[in-house]
Amino acid sequence: MRKKMLAANWKMNLNLQEASDLYSNFIQNLPFNESNHFVVFSPFVFLPQLSTFNSTLALGAQNFYPAEKGAFTGEISISQLKELQVSVVLIGHSERRSYFYESNEFLKQKVDSALNHNMDVVFCCGESLETRDSDKHLAFVEAQLTDSLFHVSKEDILKCSIAYEPIWAIGTGRTANSEQIEEMHKSIRNWISMKYDEETGQSIAILYGGSCNEHNASEIFSCPNVDGGLIGGASLSTEGFLQIAQELN
Ligand code: PGA
Repeated sequence: MRKKMLAANWKMNLNLQEASDLYSNFIQNLPFNESNHFVVFSPFVFLPQLSTFNSTLALGAQNFYPAEKGAFTGEISISQLKELQVSVVLIGHSERRSYFYESNEFLKQKVDSALNHNMDVVFCCGESLETRDSDKHLAFVEAQLTDSLFHVSKEDILKCSIAYEPIWAIGTGRTANSEQIEEMHKSIRNWISMKYDEETGQSIAILYGGSCNEHNASEIFSCPNVDGGLIGGASLSTEGFLQIAQELN
């Protein structure tokens, strides 16, 4: 059975006390089992504190720089994150692509750096409204995956999950509808199967992100090729995130 995953992307929110309380509530209440995986992508500064919880709730980093060490003022390496029990990294989020100009080529370097250090990866892709309106969304997302992710080996792609996040749905309260989501998720799975093999295509978790919340998660997660979600705004409250988690099964 394919693993299911629910990931919280806290972005640049919360203070240390709020982050610790939320993380501890998640640990106590999430429905952990063999097929459900949970991750919190926390701001860097809370990681030392959250790592002391020593929990099965995986700790993720929202960013890193793909070099071992050196003169990169303000940046953080994968090795430094590993010391804080971080086991997953987020790569390719549309906010990093647009505000911080991370190109497909740079994201490829990040993917290689993470996998070389045995980190799990949640790789984000997704189109703008303009691209969707001109009916180029499938070709656009396929190119994002081909340019930055599909060069890795079969062994490495199995350490990756993919999050489809249409940019027009992120933080806007507007979600993609079930047909739009299923069309993209099914296509992503087919591209993986064509590039690797059918079994690999069937094994990789494909998450949806973009205004997913406790009211729409049930419908979104019932799409056959949706294996969970990457949750921004609704992951900042215990109730919201736990209710979404109940819809995973
Ligand atoms: P949102 O963010 O749930 O607030 O739309 C999702 C994301 O950016 O990962």
